[in-house]
Amino acid sequence: MQDYREFLEEIIIPEDVLQKRIVELGTEISRDYQGETLHLICILRGGVVFLADLMRHITVPNSIDFMAVSSYGAGVRESTGKVRITLDLQEDIRNRNVLLVEDIVDSGYTISSVIDFLETRHPKTLKVCTLLSKEERREIQVPIDYCGFVIPNKFVFGYGLDLDELYRNLPFIGTVNTARYTPPDH
Ligand code: IMP
Ligand code: MG
Repeated sequence: MQDYREFLEEIIIPEDVLQKRIVELGTEISRDYQGETLHLICILRGGVVFLADLMRHITVPNSIDFMAVSSYGAGVRESTGKVRITLDLQEDIRNRNVLLVEDIVDSGYTISSVIDFLETRHPKTLKVCTLLSKEERREIQVPIDYCGFVIPNKFVFGYGLDLDELYRNLPFIGTVNTARYTPPDH
């Protein structure tokens, strides 16, 4: 397997900048939900690293649940616009304050489908928190209540975001030099 340093083009968000912003988001969310209980829903797998850090900066009582959708195949870099629910929630969300926690909003199709799906279950409130947003790539408008960083239209990896399922563990967000990257053959 390639060492990421071989194809890392640029670290666009270093670890300290990420962590500082996550503290700010946690503070803002805690303020907005003062006196309420919050149910955080993480979309697997990209959102897990962000969720784990963000929830520790949320001071109102909160619970977590997970769901998975498929929108990208390995080696495919463009969203298809079609999203399938591959793992449903464990718990009922009726009358709960739901906050969707996402790694990145790109075309917007994933989050838009997930919002439509969750609305049918009648949460009390439903908001979206994404770490990253590629605004210039948006094909469908989605309401984003909390956004960590708006980033340029480049494929990024690290901090939960994968490159062919690898490198999610890196503590920063980096861009890929595609000419130097070789997909794994596993
Ligand atoms: P959308 O449906 O086009 O908004 O795509 C959202 C999903 O695509 C995200 O949840 C990611 O899983 C994936 N994605 C989009 N851009 C990137 C990227 O630059 N790196 C890694 N995954 C990405
Ligand atoms: Mg994702």
